[in-house]
Amino acid sequence: MQSNFLRYDDNWIHNYLNPILSSGAPSELVSEEIEKNTVGTDIHLMPIFSQRFCDTITKMASEMPEQNWTKGRHEHYPTNDILLKDFDARLYEVFQSVLQKWLLPHALNIYQIAGKKAEDFADETFLVRYTIENQSYLDTHMDSSYFTFNTALNNNFLGGGTYFKKYNLTLQPQPGWSVLAPSLVTHKHGARPISEGVRYMLISFIHPIVQPAY
Ligand SMILES: [Fe+2]
Repeated sequence: MQSNFLRYDDNWIHNYLNPILSSGAPSELVSEEIEKNTVGTDIHLMPIFSQRFCDTITKMASEMPEQNWTKGRHEHYPTNDILLKDFDARLYEVFQSVLQKWLLPHALNIYQIAGKKAEDFADETFLVRYTIENQSYLDTHMDSSYFTFNTALNNNFLGGGTYFKKYNLTLQPQPGWSVLAPSLVTHKHGARPISEGVRYMLISFIHPIVQPAY
């Protein structure tokens, strides 16, 4: 692994972010560009990482000791996963900068969430692995989040895809692209079974730090 993978700076942005995000265009225009990839009600395909990011993180994941992969972190719909902060604390720090500067501002624009800034939100980010031996799919469920970034990291497997039951949609974005969708009652979803290989995803549940008083 290249050491600069774990240090957020201009080089990192150049090497590991998707150029659509880091084009230098005004944020509102980039948000509009992302909104062109709307694929269902409030479901957006959003470019996030470069292929190089995906290659680097999936190599790290494939070399991770088996005992580091958890199987029961979520009570109802557990995935075979590792919290990003446990996967690599420095990478999680890098991801915090990416989330605050490059991801949340667009999500807030797209969902027209007024009166809140990126720093009013926190994440639970984890790397998920679907394998034939451990867990090949995930039943339809609702995330405990406001909205979720479901980012694809590889495509060298068969089957898989993020399935939205209500919209009868199965999405299989290219590596580095995320399925951005709200959670709770409107967007129940699951992971279709893979039939060969290993599918890696980076999932970020996003929620407000302080729950709003309705
Ligand atoms: Fe989910």
